[in-house]
Amino acid sequence: MGELEAITVYPDAGRLARAVADHFVALASEAIETDGRFAVALAGGSTPKAAYVLLASDEYATGVDWSRVQVFWGDERCVPPDHPDSNYRMAREAWLDQVSLPAENVHRIRGELEPDQAAREYEDVLRIFFSPPYRDRKADGNAPVPSFDLILLGMGDDGHTASLFPGTGAIHEQARWVVAHFVEKLDTWRITLTPVVINAAANVTFVVSGSGKAERLHQVLNGPCQPDVLPAQIVNPDGGRLRWLVDRAAASSLPAQDL
Ligand code: 6PG
Repeated sequence: MGELEAITVYPDAGRLARAVADHFVALASEAIETDGRFAVALAGGSTPKAAYVLLASDEYATGVDWSRVQVFWGDERCVPPDHPDSNYRMAREAWLDQVSLPAENVHRIRGELEPDQAAREYEDVLRIFFSPPYRDRKADGNAPVPSFDLILLGMGDDGHTASLFPGTGAIHEQARWVVAHFVEKLDTWRITLTPVVINAAANVTFVVSGSGKAERLHQVLNGPCQPDVLPAQIVNPDGGRLRWLVDRAAASSLPAQDL
């Protein structure tokens, strides 16, 4: 693991969700003030849903200039946008439909497409959105790697993150920003940001909840570095800030010095 910016433990899932919502609003306000926009890639799965619901509430929604927020996803299942498994659908129903976020600010991964086509299309979406004026590009004329203001990540009980699953080549992808791959374990295709983009973010924040993640979280944070087994360990932002926001149940296997 790289320099661990901070692991913060909250008493329960409710306080964790509130902390995630506070974190989002703070980083959004900072980025909008500094750069005029906030580019965030959302985590899928179930853990972040409670925070997304809070961000849709009047308590939080009124504190964000949604016209300046640009929403992306860290990964997506290869399903249509109205499918129960869609990460886009979860965030849209829990949050995005409830706030004044312009439709053009929502950049979903089109999981309904042929997987590799969806991945390549999403790379183009990132290239267009993040491309600086040509003069600022690298000598080879390529656009620099997209740098999100915030990438939210979950962690599976097998140590995967985004859709970087154990034993998959995507963990060590050095060139592509987005890849589609068949995940044997799930018997399904997934589309995911690669570590190239994840590690270029200004802020990467894991959100982990529940005792079912406790032992794996300890292995990821304190065990030997073995990203092929524990893909969350490949997350090592280059100059960005890495944070872990966890609840007490997920932290229950961590040694005292981690806390
Ligand atoms: C996904 C997520 C994935 C998720 C973990 C944890 O598409 O499923 O991006 O990486 O964050 O699997 O999922 P839970 O929050 O449901 O435990």
